[in-house]
Amino acid sequence: MTTLLSINDLTDMKRRGEKITCLTAYDASFSAVLDKVGIDVILVGDSLGMVIQGHSTTVPVSVKDMVYHSRCVSQARQRAFVIGDLPFMSYATLQEAGKNAARLMQLGGVQMVKLEGARMDYVSFLVDQGIPVCGHLGLLPQSINQLGRYAVQGKNTPDAEKISENAYALQQAGASLLVLECVPAALAKQISEQLSIPVIGIGAGVDCDGQVLVLYDMLNIGIIKRPRFSKNFMTDVNSIEEAVAAYHRAVKITQFPAPEHSF
Ligand code: KIV
Repeated sequence: MTTLLSINDLTDMKRRGEKITCLTAYDASFSAVLDKVGIDVILVGDSLGMVIQGHSTTVPVSVKDMVYHSRCVSQARQRAFVIGDLPFMSYATLQEAGKNAARLMQLGGVQMVKLEGARMDYVSFLVDQGIPVCGHLGLLPQSINQLGRYAVQGKNTPDAEKISENAYALQQAGASLLVLECVPAALAKQISEQLSIPVIGIGAGVDCDGQVLVLYDMLNIGIIKRPRFSKNFMTDVNSIEEAVAAYHRAVKITQFPAPEHSF
């Protein structure tokens, strides 16, 4: 019988220099394919608002949506570690953060919740309740209406220093994983080396401890244009399973992301 990966397994992978593979999934069929191939982490991302529901941002996604899709994914895997996103405004107060994270874990079956931004007090509150937390810095899609556009973050020195300081503060607050989205590769390298927790990059260069992509982007079935940092893994293969395996292999041997997928 296969056992589920734990956060300790992911931390051990960082320590021994093995890259962590992660993809998003939102349903049982894709969850089972990712698991069969050996993808280490499945993220039930609130990107489902864009790729499943057809919205232009992740903002409309509800906790109910996240619980439903998390349950579909978590029921279908046997090994992969599953993380669920806390969606927009579901952690506006500590009380709501606790209640909604508990729903994702108890009803959705996720092993960890992810929240966006330098929310150190929320992280330490959740961790105190026994809820493992993944931070998310760099480009924060839930803040798109404040940012105005999806763009690389941390390009100038003060912004880069802020992201780096916040990454360390999230770790100190108890986060056990960090997603870094759309930041210069050099900044992501420095943060990955500085932190003891695994750093999973998306558009953050090859030196992170692991990589994540939105599944529909790498299968080239997205309804919006594939971002520059992603790659179509369906070229040269005959099935979705082979594309996922090609991604898994490319990340493990540090062939992906290549310089053209990095900033
Ligand atoms: O929602 C999502 O898919 C994510 C990834 C882009 C990291 O948060």
